Amino acid sequence: MNLVTATWTEPGNTPVALLLLGKGTDPASERGVDCPGDLPAPSDPDLVARATAAKAALGDRVFVLGHHYQRDEVIQFADVTGDSFKLAQQAAARPEAEFIVFCGVHFMAESADILTKPEQQVILPDLAAGCSMADMAVLGQVETAWEHFQDLGIAGDIVPVTYMNSSADIKGFVGRNSGVVCTSSNAKRALDWSFEQGSKVFFLPDQHLGRNTAVLEMGFDLDDCVLYDPHKPHGGLTDEQLRNARMILWRGHCSVHGRFTIDSVREVRERVPGVNVLVHPECRHDVVRAADYVGSTEYIIKALDAAPAGSAWAVGTELNLVRRMALAHPDKQIMFLDRTVCYCSTMNRIDLPHLVWTLEELVAGRVPNVITVDEKTAREARVALDQMLALP
Ligand code: 13P
Ligand code: SF4
Repeated sequence: MNLVTATWTEPGNTPVALLLLGKGTDPASERGVDCPGDLPAPSDPDLVARATAAKAALGDRVFVLGHHYQRDEVIQFADVTGDSFKLAQQAAARPEAEFIVFCGVHFMAESADILTKPEQQVILPDLAAGCSMADMAVLGQVETAWEHFQDLGIAGDIVPVTYMNSSADIKGFVGRNSGVVCTSSNAKRALDWSFEQGSKVFFLPDQHLGRNTAVLEMGFDLDDCVLYDPHKPHGGLTDEQLRNARMILWRGHCSVHGRFTIDSVREVRERVPGVNVLVHPECRHDVVRAADYVGSTEYIIKALDAAPAGSAWAVGTELNLVRRMALAHPDKQIMFLDRTVCYCSTMNRIDLPHLVWTLEELVAGRVPNVITVDEKTAREARVALDQMLALP
């Protein structure tokens, strides 16, 4: 990786919204509520046969999208697998499908609803499949920050950029303020475009993707970045800090990738001489700096597919994907970067019982768990999503 000179101090975690999964409502969460369905028992030995039959009965009327972090039992039924960028493209490219069943999390299904035709319905098999990172940026907080930037007279210089992992109303905010959505596959291109439009970027909600891209891929200094904490007045920043900053990073993070530490990297290097450390850019800055390779989920898959037989890889991303890659490449030594980091609990909400229930409901003529973004939000968010899809 590039070497940077400034000293890096990892800030403590923002308090994470830990919710009782699938139970009750949380108005502060971008995700929905509990699953209303009469789910089949997870022990039902016919679940695979039932999903196969229901999918066959629906034929071309249904298109199933599966994010790479989904369980194997679910991913086997996906018509297309991908990272969030590829899945957004795929959703937009399927105008003939009546139902898009999104095996992923809530913000992805919202983006699919925005990008598909009005008559198409996007379905999330479990409404409680949210994302704790997306929940870390709430519209009211973001608007408060923006008003402060306006009062300081700097809002006109700032281009807002939101990671795909944000609620539709945050994307709407970015769209109405002439910004862009990005994913981990195109964050550099999105920032290059943004710095052609203005002199500063307000990056939401993943501080790590913003910092890692700016510093390690674009040559910014750590001192060019400031961390805006929505729980403190004015983000905990002085007017001078905000005026001088080039990257204003929202204090959000992924509760899965944020758990990999520099100690995991040191430990694996000691244990496995010659190991290649490959991580997702949602990991902390010190972890990414210590890694050999960094990239989006699609990048990680391509790197492992292309790796020579006999090579060793410690991978810092979601466990379902790392496990699948290890099983797919028995001639390579592919291991998880950390011993304690676990699955993304909300991605794992989508299991075979939820998928079977969803598909069988559709066969019965009932459409469950439809994700709908209101018209105004969708129109504004679409501006920022289309800008992403049009990035050079
Ligand atoms: P990508 O799909 O963009 O790699 O993002 C990873 C992720 O955390 C999705 O929730
Ligand atoms: Fe959200 Fe992280 Fe899970 Fe992705 S892996 S859905 S960013 S919590």
